Amino acid sequence: MSLFVTLEGPDGGGKSTQAKDLAAHLGSTGVDVLLTREPGGTPIGDQIRKVLMSLDNAGMLPQAEFLLFSASRAQLVHEVIRPHLKRGGVVVCDRFYDSSLAYQGYGHQLDLEVLRTITSFVTGGLKPDLTLLLDLPVEAGLGRRRETGHWNRLDDYNVDFHRRIRQGYLVMAEADRSRWVIVDATRPMDRVQADIRSIVAGRLA
Ligand SMILES: Nc1ncnc2c1ncn2[C@@H]1O[C@H](COP(=O)(O)OP(=O)(O)OP(=O)(O)O)[C@@H](O)[C@H]1O
Ligand SMILES: [Mg+2]
Repeated sequence: MSLFVTLEGPDGGGKSTQAKDLAAHLGSTGVDVLLTREPGGTPIGDQIRKVLMSLDNAGMLPQAEFLLFSASRAQLVHEVIRPHLKRGGVVVCDRFYDSSLAYQGYGHQLDLEVLRTITSFVTGGLKPDLTLLLDLPVEAGLGRRRETGHWNRLDDYNVDFHRRIRQGYLVMAEADRSRWVIVDATRPMDRVQADIRSIVAGRLA
């Protein structure tokens, strides 16, 4: 059975950690699972990722940022995600278009309707079946990233910006509870992973 799962949430919530563990777990149970991430996940997308993350590109406008994410997303959907879903597989994606709505929409306050229109053009209307919101207070997430030295250009915005992102995610999750599940990401990693596995198992059953 095909299933498209995305992991979303504020910086440092554990999306990459949990996505990797979830994919490994599903693979070990015989599921045809593909793990990918945004931005990147294709040769063109990985080049775009470098431009987006580089601390040299401090002057990048939110509009340019959104369009670069969208370009990377178009490649990922058409080269990787759709073909795998078509084969009946499970796709686990570390961030997807909800990140653009949260960061460039709620964070940078670009027009959400414009972002949604371009997103639908880019994805051909593909939507995740399940989106896990790894929710935690902004300071906690940023603190985790600082501790590990994984700091990049996108972390460098101010705390109010990151607060708007968290709020935006919560608004989107409340608006569509059939797709979104909010997971408390302040807990230890294994507890978070146990919840995620059981939610996904429920969707695959
Ligand atoms: N539940 C947790 N408790 C404590 N530390 C955690 C937890 N989950 C992840 N971490 C640590 O926090 C840091 C950030 O985790 P990770 O990179 O998985 O988050 P992320 O959501 O992918 O971040 P980003 O949005 O920046 O990509 C890592 O050092 C990770 O080991
Ligand atoms: Mg990550």
